[in-house]
Amino acid sequence: MRQERTAIYPGTFDPLTNGHVSLIRRSRELFDRVVVAVAADTPKDPLFTLEERVRLAREAIGGSDPGIVVEPFDGLLVDYVARRGSCILLRGLRAVSDFEYEFQLALMNRRLRRDIQTVFLMTDYQWLYISSTIVKAAASLGGNIHGLVPGCVERALREKYAQGAPSGKRHA
Ligand code: COA
Repeated sequence: MRQERTAIYPGTFDPLTNGHVSLIRRSRELFDRVVVAVAADTPKDPLFTLEERVRLAREAIGGSDPGIVVEPFDGLLVDYVARRGSCILLRGLRAVSDFEYEFQLALMNRRLRRDIQTVFLMTDYQWLYISSTIVKAAASLGGNIHGLVPGCVERALREKYAQGAPSGKRHA
């Protein structure tokens, strides 16, 4: 019997965008199980807390597909992947500009654990220009982000900025 394939899709997800959702859904055509792993340890300065990022991702993806799981992780990514019993790291590529950073990350992770492979999926063309940062920048100034993020994320961003989250700060 074929072994089940679990891919780990790590990120800061601050917040999850429709680009992420599209990639997660498409990745299910390749893997039996996809774990959306929300990083506690990130070089970024997130706008949303870890708990908020996990809750929003869970709400956005919904419970319709039992093959998709959202969970937080801390510490070294490759150790978490191994603990989870997987050897596949999934990352999205939007443009050539992503390549250098992704290449560096993949090689470093490979150096840390040779048994873990990074697999890249191209982001759907509709989402090529969006990132969590650009969505936050527009939302913080009252811009219309409808259609770029799931409904729960849109509401959460509106609430965050209405509560006075600093719009000038680059939460990236
Ligand atoms: N559609 C739209 N946007 C996308 C996208 C897609 N399909 N895929 C990625 N992006 C955007 C994200 O919105 C994000 O935008 P931002 O920079 O404005 O926030 C950016 O591309 C990449 O972010 P993300 O996919 O969330 O990944 P990340 O670079 O924030 O994740 C970790 C980095 C979490 C994987 C890394 O910090 C990590 O591994 N941390 C754990 C600790 C560790 O092991 N460190 C050593 C690593 S060698």
